[in-house]
Amino acid sequence: MRSSVVTDRRPPRDLADILAPVQAGQAQVEAELDRCVADSQLPMLQGVLASVLGGSGKRLRPAIALLIGQAYGVDREEVVLLAAGTEVLHSATLVHDDIVDEADSRRGQPSVHAAWSTKVAVLAGDYLFASAADLVARLNRPKIVRQFADTIHVMSRSEFVFPSFNGDAEATRRQYLEKIGGKTAALIALACDATAVLADAPDDEAEALHDVGWSLGMAFQVTDDVLDIAGVAQETGKPVGGDLRAGLLTLPVVEYLDAAAAPTPVMQRLADGEGLSEAEAAEAIETLRASGAVDAARTVAEGYADRARAALTRLPPDPAFDALADLVTYATDRHT
Ligand code: IPE
Ligand code: IPE
Ligand code: MG
Ligand code: MG
Repeated sequence: MRSSVVTDRRPPRDLADILAPVQAGQAQVEAELDRCVADSQLPMLQGVLASVLGGSGKRLRPAIALLIGQAYGVDREEVVLLAAGTEVLHSATLVHDDIVDEADSRRGQPSVHAAWSTKVAVLAGDYLFASAADLVARLNRPKIVRQFADTIHVMSRSEFVFPSFNGDAEATRRQYLEKIGGKTAALIALACDATAVLADAPDDEAEALHDVGWSLGMAFQVTDDVLDIAGVAQETGKPVGGDLRAGLLTLPVVEYLDAAAAPTPVMQRLADGEGLSEAEAAEAIETLRASGAVDAARTVAEGYADRARAALTRLPPDPAFDALADLVTYATDRHT
């Protein structure tokens, strides 16, 4: 039997099924996102924003805010503004991220810089940051504005962390975890923290919610990095091997370097901080899949998912928190 400290790993469920209880709130979030597009006034900008905000994103961050809001009976209009704010902020970072990562597809479509230009993607990303600020300002809650500002600083700084390898895999692993904490876990934790403010949740519950969001976010990003190697582009909607071509030291690569007595020449190029060609990335994917590195990274993701489940036990029983537990399982089991 599993230790009782951690809630049981709930069986995998479809995302739509997990989120059925907050469907009405999700529709209101979509309406708010449509309004952002319409309010941008300029036809060209509206076209870019429609492709970004109207796309097939999983809407994970708004879903988390809506579920927590539902558990505490937060006013729907307020939680919808907050939920939309997290999604618009997420979208802004993705538009800029695809420029930085030189990634040509997103959600199964050409990314903004590929479909329009880098110039348009920089400008549209800027516009989206302002739209996120606008949504949050409408809440009239200075504390939440402060949380957003702090999180954007953390996310932005994390993009300046470039994990490198000098023979000490543990040091690289630390840099990697610091980076993904800043770029991904911080935003998912923000969805929890800001909803806890709206809910006026007691301090211990607000801390538990923060821990759920942070750990879920870590599990989610490690799984994203696994899917760059073990995933299928038709399912993820993103290029496979993109991280390897960009020469990024993600966790599966770190686990490989930690375990390999003598890295293959292609894996050594990654260790040396070099990006790979298409053919080299395909070879690295074979090497990583055949080694235990992907499984080792998945085990780390499961460890974070377990931490999120443990944090959930510090919250009062509620069906919305059961759905949050299902999202934790989804974070590591997903293919998309
Ligand atoms: C992509 O996030 C960026 C990461 C943090 C891995 P999502 O996987 O939530 O992206 P969409 O919004 O569903 O496309
Ligand atoms: C997450 O990292 C990006 C942000 C949080 C901005 P990735 O670079 O791995 O995300 P994808 O794979 O492009 O979605
Ligand atoms: Mg990227
Ligand atoms: Mg990725």
